[in-house]
Amino acid sequence: MIKLQDVYKEYTIGDSLLEILQNINLEIKKGEFISIIGPSGSGKSTLMYMMGLLDIPTKGKVLMNDVDTSKLSDEKLSRLRNEKIGFVFQQFNLINKFTVLENILLPTLYNPHTLDYDPQIKAITLLKRFGLDHRTHSYPNKISGGEQQRAAIARALILEPEIIFADEPTGNLDTKTGETILSLLEDLNKKEKITIVIVTHEAHIAEKTKRSISIQDGKIIK
Ligand SMILES: Nc1ncnc2c1ncn2[C@@H]1O[C@H](COP(=O)(O)OP(=O)(O)O)[C@@H](O)[C@H]1O
Ligand SMILES: [Mg+2]
Repeated sequence: MIKLQDVYKEYTIGDSLLEILQNINLEIKKGEFISIIGPSGSGKSTLMYMMGLLDIPTKGKVLMNDVDTSKLSDEKLSRLRNEKIGFVFQQFNLINKFTVLENILLPTLYNPHTLDYDPQIKAITLLKRFGLDHRTHSYPNKISGGEQQRAAIARALILEPEIIFADEPTGNLDTKTGETILSLLEDLNKKEKITIVIVTHEAHIAEKTKRSISIQDGKIIK
């Protein structure tokens, strides 16, 4: 569903050219449970931003379901992202002045598509499924890290995405809580057939996925 062809990402700082990603060719197929692994600074997040249509390459193409996204306007691009892609981050990125329920519903406020379901009911269902019903009206800074990450995953799911990108989703959690987050993502892949891409620097997390892509100094090495 996502294909990167000869993708480069470069920044010019003063007179020097920083090559953050070089000659990236990869394909993520529908239904995959896959990890991108590499040391800190290797370009994983940058690569995730390209795949998730949050940023555009300096060279090369990103195809989503065979559509060349470099040809799309900013508006079309954000529509596509909104409709098809969910994101989960290491820092959870919930908004503290909104309740858990309000955070989960946030993506629906910017959503230009008509939904064939009631997002409020969907949010309540997700809260129950993730064992967060008692946190529905809590504020994010009043609940645990594991609960915040489960709320963030619920937010990523509210518009029923085809693919979820999770950037170091267990990076701020203890090992045991991290494992519950991983099994939750695995479950979404198995039961709902949602394509899951996990970005990590930890080998034991990458080992849990079905396929792993290694990146080093902005290049795919395996
Ligand atoms: N906007 C930017 N301008 C300049 N350099 C950047 C920018 N974003 C990232 N980098 C650099 O690109 C490299 C890869 O960053 P990143 O993709 O965040 O790596 P990772 O997620 O693997 O830790 C790092 O050396 C980082 O400093
Ligand atoms: Mg990163």
